[in-house]
Amino acid sequence: MVDTDTFVPDAIESIAAEIGDANAVIALSGGVDSSVAAALAYEAIGDQLTPVYVDTGLMRKGETAQIRETFSFMESLRVIDAKDRFLEALAGVTDPEEKRKIIGEQFIREFEREARDADADYLVQGTIYPDRIESEGGIKSHHNVGGLPEVVDFEGIVEPVRDLYKDEVREVARHLGLDELVAERMPFPGPGLAVRVIGEVTEEKLEVARDACHVVEEELEEYEPWQALAAVIGKATGVKGDNRVHGWVVSVRSVESRDGMTARAQEIDWETLQRIQSRITGQNENVARVVYDVTHKPPATIEYE
Ligand code: XMP
Repeated sequence: MVDTDTFVPDAIESIAAEIGDANAVIALSGGVDSSVAAALAYEAIGDQLTPVYVDTGLMRKGETAQIRETFSFMESLRVIDAKDRFLEALAGVTDPEEKRKIIGEQFIREFEREARDADADYLVQGTIYPDRIESEGGIKSHHNVGGLPEVVDFEGIVEPVRDLYKDEVREVARHLGLDELVAERMPFPGPGLAVRVIGEVTEEKLEVARDACHVVEEELEEYEPWQALAAVIGKATGVKGDNRVHGWVVSVRSVESRDGMTARAQEIDWETLQRIQSRITGQNENVARVVYDVTHKPPATIEYE
């Protein structure tokens, strides 16, 4: 466990010392890691920091509004609406790693433009310890680790939470008095809902996944999962009224974990599962089935792609 009483002032002091009078940028994702990194950096250098939130269109329900609210104390916050550009770049792409790559590249393009505009010399990142391990091990191309620094010519990269595990980052968030929602929020992957719709990313699938994820997060809150999510995993036959339909299959997943590297599928009571099923099929008439994923990690991953 991290000793927040010493970690926080030490982190602020070392950020201030490193960046000095220069300008810095940070990409806010809505997750706890970048939120904590941004809050520490803002304490250290104030409006010399430009936090940039790129709305990729792959975010959770209500995410953009929440970001504006949580970070309203940062006058330099920029919110970029890039949804159309991401969807266009992803059109027709089905390969999971290709999707990740395209999202990473588009993100860099958006962010680079803002970094130049903000005249930033330093990049602050919310990279945490497990991100580094998984990336170094080559398990997946986490876009918040690869890419960015190579493209923009920054003088330095500052990663204030690079040695912390997720639960430690949450402790720091609480210590900083960050909005409870941010501090307790489940992790959300950098490529967002794109890894929760198998195959091509379309607006229709995203809407199903976004609404279903919202239901699942709400309904499973009391189970205190490390992550609870829903994914659009294919199509199957169903019946609506008198008609057979070919609708979406939504898979619900809820796992316990310490750091995301391994995970256990949670046992959920039947009534709750049925309520989830009924809300998801009820809110979207193109959903034919809801299934519950009982697979641990390994052999499955937490996300679907
Ligand atoms: P997996 O699916 O690999 O996920 O078991 C482990 C943890 O990492 C998150 N995740 C990602 N986070 N960029 C991220 O920033 C990514 O590309 C990415 N893929 C997975 C996932 O949500 C889980 O918490």
